[in-house]
Amino acid sequence: MIRRLLAAAVTLHLWIAGPGVVADDPYPEGYVGPDACEACHRAEIGAWKNTEHFRGYARLHKHARLDSILTTVAGKSSPRKNWTCTSCHYTMVSTRGRNARAVSGVSCESCHGPGERWIDTHWRPGPYMTHDREPPEHKRQRLADAAQHGMIHSTMLYDLARQCQVCHGLARDDVPVDKLALMFDAGHPMDPGFELIAYSQGTIRHHLDGTTPDPERTPLELARLFVIGAAAKLVSASNAAGKVEHPKYAAAQKRRADDARAAIGAVAHLPEAKALLADPSDANARKLAAAVQEADVLQAVQALLPSKADYR
Ligand code: HEC
Ligand code: HEC
Ligand code: HEC
Ligand code: HEC
Repeated sequence: MIRRLLAAAVTLHLWIAGPGVVADDPYPEGYVGPDACEACHRAEIGAWKNTEHFRGYARLHKHARLDSILTTVAGKSSPRKNWTCTSCHYTMVSTRGRNARAVSGVSCESCHGPGERWIDTHWRPGPYMTHDREPPEHKRQRLADAAQHGMIHSTMLYDLARQCQVCHGLARDDVPVDKLALMFDAGHPMDPGFELIAYSQGTIRHHLDGTTPDPERTPLELARLFVIGAAAKLVSASNAAGKVEHPKYAAAQKRRADDARAAIGAVAHLPEAKALLADPSDANARKLAAAVQEADVLQAVQALLPSKADYR
């Protein structure tokens, strides 16, 4: 009886809300938008304004291929309101999932995690304590607390690389994979050759400490980033490839996976790399990411690193 009442209530709700509304507005919560970071992160905001992530906001809704891509997915016909598009293209600020609006394109929180639960604490050693007086253990705990509340720190390279792959691999868990495959068929772009160094060390780079002009990463740091990026790509592509039989999409995901395997193959002397190749999971990828942070992988991957001319 209770179950039937519940079913009736759900039906009534669907009827009142109209078809599609329940499934069409699952906007994520907890985003505050880039304006909230600006007062303290002027340099990073400045760098970001020079990226396609920032520019896409003013441009996407006017794109020539927009309509053919939009008609493949259900829902609202403005990309700023259709949650399939907003999930990758915009920063949505809402009040507990309601009244969501696109405040910018891909921005700080798209990579560093929704900020509501850590913005006030990630930077503050606490009352009566300045940054230079803060004991290392206190700082470690402060950053760990922020991570607990969803912050993806600049040192969490695997998690950052994973964020890129979710969008750039057309491989979101929270969008039905059939939709992604249909969009891809309709001409939605996707570069199976996405490689983390080439994509992150050009316009996107904002390794700014406020005193020196944007120091470049060392060759060894780049080599590590290369392997970590490939690990994230392999896990993402393997998950996506297994989910749908759509030929064009499945072939592109296979290309991503093969590409990543070739890169990881270069460090196959590491047991963690072998384990990841045999079983591409987040857990195994994290182990490889931790291992390369300790290992000298420069020799092994040097020949595969992109040249600066290819940085985007
Ligand atoms: C929330 C989704 C999302 C995330 C996360 C994301 N991107 Fe993007 N990225 C996009 C979209 C969408 C565009 C295209 C913007 C446009 O043209 O409208 C783009 C464009 C780019 C471009 C310019 C494209 C080109 O062909 O030159 C680069 C470079 C790039 N992203 C790098 C990265 C890197 C590196 C990461 C991870 C550190 C990352 N992105 C994370 C969605 C994302
Ligand atoms: C899984 C993430 C994802 C989803 C979902 C998504 N996009 Fe994209 N979109 C991207 C990325 C990443 C790029 C940039 C690709 C590149 O340049 O390599 C992009 C690029 C585009 C471009 C080309 C932009 C340019 O400047 O050339 C159009 C148009 C586009 N998307 C439309 C849409 C529409 C419409 C939707 C909703 C139906 C949508 N996208 C949903 C990730 C996504
Ligand atoms: C496309 C993904 C992406 C976006 C968007 C993004 N970041 Fe980052 N951020 C990263 C990555 C990756 C690193 C690590 C970069 C490195 O060390 O080379 C990083 C590093 C940082 C750092 C540490 C810098 C340092 O000197 O080590 C800060 C602070 C930061 N980001 C703040 C921001 C702010 C504020 C915004 C918005 C204006 C933003 N980020 C937008 C991916 C992103
Ligand atoms: C009130 C000032 C303030 C605001 C607002 C602020 N930050 Fe920060 N942020 C800081 C300071 C100060 C640091 C350096 C903290 C330290 O030394 O540990 C920092 C550090 C960071 C770092 C690097 C720390 C790490 O280990 O990766 C990132 C990333 C970051 N902030 C992102 C953001 C983003 C994204 C926003 C907006 C959602 C934001 N911050 C808003 C002051 C602020």
